[in-house]
Amino acid sequence: MKPLKALSIAGFLAVPLVLAPAFAQESVLNLYSSRHYQTDEALYANFTKQTGVKINRIEASDDAIIERIRNEGAKSPADVLITVDAGRLWRAEQLGLFQPVKSALLDSRIPSSFRDPSGQWFGFSLRARVIAYDRTKVKPGDIATYEDLADPRWNGKICTRSSAHVYNLSLMGAMIDHLGEAKAEAWARGVKANLAHDPKGGDTDQLKSVAAGECELALVNTYYWARLARSAKPEDKALVDKVGIVFPNQSSWGTHVNISGAGVLKNAPHREAAVRFLEYLASDEAQRYFSEGNNEWPVVASVQIANPALAPIAQIKVDLINVAVLGRNQPTSQKVFDRVAWK
Ligand SMILES: [Fe+2]
Repeated sequence: MKPLKALSIAGFLAVPLVLAPAFAQESVLNLYSSRHYQTDEALYANFTKQTGVKINRIEASDDAIIERIRNEGAKSPADVLITVDAGRLWRAEQLGLFQPVKSALLDSRIPSSFRDPSGQWFGFSLRARVIAYDRTKVKPGDIATYEDLADPRWNGKICTRSSAHVYNLSLMGAMIDHLGEAKAEAWARGVKANLAHDPKGGDTDQLKSVAAGECELALVNTYYWARLARSAKPEDKALVDKVGIVFPNQSSWGTHVNISGAGVLKNAPHREAAVRFLEYLASDEAQRYFSEGNNEWPVVASVQIANPALAPIAQIKVDLINVAVLGRNQPTSQKVFDRVAWK
């Protein structure tokens, strides 16, 4: 009986075994992410509901996730990398981790400023790097531009994170593009001279330093402030009461903005599903989930969010240089920071 049973099972499975690999190939997506927001769960569940493609998520911190894909090499199961800051996406691109994607839908939905010109990565939400100020000591009109941060009147009054961090490298990339390297260096020297203390901590720490009276101004990304502005905790409310934000350079080149973005990896085993996923991220529904999950603005201009902590992006003059420039300038940005000893 036993051999016969085995034979009959093999016979029964013959057809599904032939079809299974092709079906399995497009029914999963391996997503490598350095985003870890609760609302992303709904974002991914909705994609699975719409397409039947299951998402396997691998999470790690920003630089670690890129390192992991690099180490996995040609055998990497990674289909899509999602991370933050064009400067970081550029690093992944430099390592040859992405493959270009040509999608009329992505090209029409995402403004050209917020995606890689060669299609290796695309921005899906926007954040701005702004100036936080102590409302009790600084009037909004006192500080209007990034350039103002170098004014000696702010001597000993500015807090910022390290120059090695990609957020500051990208801001410097924009300064270099607008001012030229020499003027950008003079600016960095002035800001460095105005620092209250050596750079330390993340952007939330800078906000806390302003609230604590250690400094009067700080450079921060908008979502850190917005997160506190939407918090129910009394200490967060007290911080936001004391610390305001200014969108710099409204009368010149606009406030420096950056992206959360994603690209399809070079060795993606499920390329079709990966492109489909990127296109899904540009849909109205996903744009709301994706941006709201971290208090960012949708990159698709027609999609509105009602975020009480963030002014509508249409009301803000944003810098429209292509964010790929921030990556291209990164090595120069680091050299400029090093020359002025901004740690
Ligand atoms: Fe951040």
